[in-house]
Amino acid sequence: MSSYSIDSLEQYFKVYRKSVNKPKKFWGKIAENNFTWYQKWDKVVEFDMQKAEFVWYKNAKLNITKNCIDRHLANRGDKKAIIFEPNNPDEPSRFFTYSELYTEVSKMANVLRDQGVKKGDRVCIYLPMIPELVFTVLACARIGAIHSVIFAGFSANALSTRINDCNAKVIITADGGYRGNKTVDFKKIVDDALNKTNTIEKVLLVKRTNQEIDFKEGRDIWLQPLLEQAETTSKAEVMDAEDPLFILYTSGSTGKPKGMVHTTAGYMVYVAYTFKNVFNYKENDVYWCTADIGWITGHSYTIYGPLLNGATTVLFEGIPSYPDHSRFWNVIQKHNVNQFYTAPTAIRSLAKERIEFVQDFEMDSLKVIGSVGEPINEEAWHWYNDHVGNKRCPLVDTWWQTETGGIVISAIPFVTPTKPTYASLPLPGIRPVLMDELRNEIEGNQKLGNLCIDYPWPGIARTIWGDHQRYIDTYFSKFPGKYFSGDGALRDEVGYYRITGRVDDVIIVSGHNLGTAPIEDAINEHQTVAESAVVGFPHDIKGNALYGFVVLKEVGLWRDRNNLYKEINQLISDQIGGIAKLDKIQFVTGLPKTRSGKIMRRILRKIAEGEKSDFGDITTLVNPEIVEEISKEAL
Ligand code: WTA
Repeated sequence: MSSYSIDSLEQYFKVYRKSVNKPKKFWGKIAENNFTWYQKWDKVVEFDMQKAEFVWYKNAKLNITKNCIDRHLANRGDKKAIIFEPNNPDEPSRFFTYSELYTEVSKMANVLRDQGVKKGDRVCIYLPMIPELVFTVLACARIGAIHSVIFAGFSANALSTRINDCNAKVIITADGGYRGNKTVDFKKIVDDALNKTNTIEKVLLVKRTNQEIDFKEGRDIWLQPLLEQAETTSKAEVMDAEDPLFILYTSGSTGKPKGMVHTTAGYMVYVAYTFKNVFNYKENDVYWCTADIGWITGHSYTIYGPLLNGATTVLFEGIPSYPDHSRFWNVIQKHNVNQFYTAPTAIRSLAKERIEFVQDFEMDSLKVIGSVGEPINEEAWHWYNDHVGNKRCPLVDTWWQTETGGIVISAIPFVTPTKPTYASLPLPGIRPVLMDELRNEIEGNQKLGNLCIDYPWPGIARTIWGDHQRYIDTYFSKFPGKYFSGDGALRDEVGYYRITGRVDDVIIVSGHNLGTAPIEDAINEHQTVAESAVVGFPHDIKGNALYGFVVLKEVGLWRDRNNLYKEINQLISDQIGGIAKLDKIQFVTGLPKTRSGKIMRRILRKIAEGEKSDFGDITTLVNPEIVEEISKEAL
């Protein structure tokens, strides 16, 4: 029991040493003492880093919802599991106790079973941030169906690509959703997506906005009437430790999105353990993570991590700027939030507003504040620390990825001294290493390198859905025997890690992970475009913004550049979603001719970073001096 909760720096070092010297014993104990199992494991871990094969808790049997819900019923049945805060502050908040959550999830699970969903089937979930989103995720887990939640900001096209990739049989959506002062036509987007798919048999519908929709008899089904008649208890499917729990798509630097697969037991143990420690969660605390469930942060730290610990988790439907820029602080005051977890991009945008927006609120309840999704710059760190944490709450900068399942490098509040812009030290069980370009491990401190992890942890993704080779190639080939994160990091004089950003072509915009390839594909669909390249450039609020270099089929076409700019952005928005729009575009006569794409992108990044003027100039991009200068540097 003692290693489950870390309360002093001395204990952290002790536990950490234990966890890396005897990982099997360490993870065995954590799993043994804090969860319910139908059957225990034969072996804690079996792995092969070359083949990217990982088996955690071999042959154990469990159901994660038993651990998220059922086992809390005896002592926490009347405790709030979920606090739902609607988009519109005038709409009352809703509360669900653990007993009510049990009923809601059971009903949903029974309806899914009645609709023919079976263990191993893929169910896509495309819903606003409403309680039904949590219920459907957990209902899938209860019956052993694999959920794939698609972020509601993705377009019909992006949705259809994902449905097709995992051959989903059922999709769960809503008539519409609220987002600030707008409504989003969820059902219409799904209808469009389904024109390009043929695996979906049923569309299950939640009523949220009561707006008119096209209803297709035989395919579309309203959930509410079925839920009203459903049984209020449901049997939890017996799952193997390594049965897939969910698929979550993340963008890569090439090709189509990668369906990262997480399995049951290892993911459960890892997110529960990291939640408990990184947020220092204590019984009766109210915890709030603002991330959308469509991203890994929402999966691991809005739903699974908190519920596995019997916590109270806030589910927020709205946006930080509606009805005004004080909404976050208002909600913290309203629900007496104790732990608050958000992204640097939100902090930067709120820091731009009048200080009264934050100062007018009583946020004494806060104990811990957290950051995730992208590097947090010094200025944002201090603003968050001073005005939200009141210099009183430890600020945990948590580094992790969809692929890692849970947080891997982070301070532990009240234990690890924090340092602005540093994620700090690895959590127990995590062995970070820095590698140089020649594949040598970089020893010692005050060093910069490619951030890898050289021993598996229970939360590591198991594969890319349908493409294990791509999983190996992307994460386990560049530095053989190690997991390569794609991020660069600096290790300071005391061994703290600071994440410096991506070293590949993934661009993080407003904390959203966007690959360059799908955006370029969208641009290239424009009939006048010959080729294109997209790079990121620093942006005050979004962290990075997108800069597109576009070569037209005929030079004269650039005269219509204002329209082209709009049309190209519309194409990107149609293909991927509004989050991926280009902030700047430059029509060019050609892309730099270099030996490798990597060097070409470096050159473009330099140009994008130095670019002061707005889009619209046709330039002969390849200034030979720049190319030569940067090529030298790149080599
Ligand atoms: C970036 C989000 C710096 C990083 C959990 C990583 C961060 C990518 C941090 C994964 C942080 C996430 N500091 N960078 N604290 N957290 N990142 O898969 O580049 O959406 O590789 O997972 O976000 O994004 P993903």
